[in-house]
Amino acid sequence: MWNRTRATELLKIKYPIIQGPFGGKFSSSQLVAKVSNLGGMGSFGLHAYTPEEIVEVDKEIKRLTSMPYVLNLWVPLKDDPIDTYKNESFDELKKVFAPYFEQMQVSLPEKPHPETQNFEQQMEAVLTSGPPVASFIFGLPSREIILELKKRQIIVMATATTLEEAMMIEEAGIDIVIASGSEAGGHRASFMKSAEESLTPTRLLIHQVVDNLNIPVIAAGGISNGSDLADILKSGAAGAQIGTAFLATNESNASEIHKSKLLSSSPVKTDLTRVFTGRLARAISSNFSRSFKDSDKEYIAPYPIQSRFLSSLRKASIEQNNSDFVAYWSGQPSSILKHKSTESLFHSLIEDVSKIHKTKSW
Ligand SMILES: Cc1cc2nc3c(=O)[nH]c(=O)nc-3n(C[C@H](O)[C@H](O)[C@H](O)COP(=O)(O)O)c2cc1C
Repeated sequence: MWNRTRATELLKIKYPIIQGPFGGKFSSSQLVAKVSNLGGMGSFGLHAYTPEEIVEVDKEIKRLTSMPYVLNLWVPLKDDPIDTYKNESFDELKKVFAPYFEQMQVSLPEKPHPETQNFEQQMEAVLTSGPPVASFIFGLPSREIILELKKRQIIVMATATTLEEAMMIEEAGIDIVIASGSEAGGHRASFMKSAEESLTPTRLLIHQVVDNLNIPVIAAGGISNGSDLADILKSGAAGAQIGTAFLATNESNASEIHKSKLLSSSPVKTDLTRVFTGRLARAISSNFSRSFKDSDKEYIAPYPIQSRFLSSLRKASIEQNNSDFVAYWSGQPSSILKHKSTESLFHSLIEDVSKIHKTKSW
């Protein structure tokens, strides 16, 4: 059967379909549980959560499903540019963005304090919760953490955007690599070279990683229908991690306007930009994102200062019904997204792959 892969064996799931985690509080326990109960595997993005909240989220997921699920964390970057960000650079940033604040009649903010969650404490909460699977983005946890996870029989997954990152993940003893191609929605998770230097389309990245690694490879980026899923399985991937198509469904925590944009009747157009948060990420194209080119990236503040700096502009944008300054995160799907219901999305993926599997083209 097409649905049995090395990943489904290891993860003890029926179908090789993972609902990708969403940081920024777009994940929901309902979505995670629904996908896991359907025989795939749901993931919860915990980046913005305190250790206490993590324990509560885990309890809620366990109340809603007895099937495998994933808790996901962001690994702190080495040489994070936030550590060396200067006041003069912030003055420069204010000059560049002043016209947009004027346009929306919002006063320019003072330099925000970048408060982020403490990764070690978040990790403690994940270890205490003991999910069946833990996944990481933006790098690898320490050797000690990987050993602690394994001691508790927690399967470990990590995201790579290049072959070199995937090799490092395998060498670190991680069980499964998620190969995230440049079509993927949300932040680019690169941790060896810059995100701009690590943009390989999903299908090409899958070939490179499958050919060179022994651990199972999950494909992520632009996978939105059964035909995409069949293609990546035929290329040797052991499954797909799908984000945007699940973000558009009823159970996700995205806003209604965000979902309606994702489910638009014309193909979604997206841009990769640093302008919204300071890290390269894919969102629905807007006048604002289009007006900042790659060459402008030196003006943009590091994550999360850039995002905090823009928060009043974002709020005004929503209030004034001008969605330009809001990041509507989206991957670049290969087809128009149609499914509001998680069940119908999941069933259509399975039915379409099953049909393709019966043909000679498999
Ligand atoms: C809004 C949004 C937030 C995301 N946050 C995370 C995250 O916190 N951790 C993570 O590992 N992946 C994150 N991702 C990546 C997804 O889990 C998934 O790999 C990606 O969306 C797959 O590409 P697709 O959107 O083209 O389907 C995010 C994606 C989106 C769209």
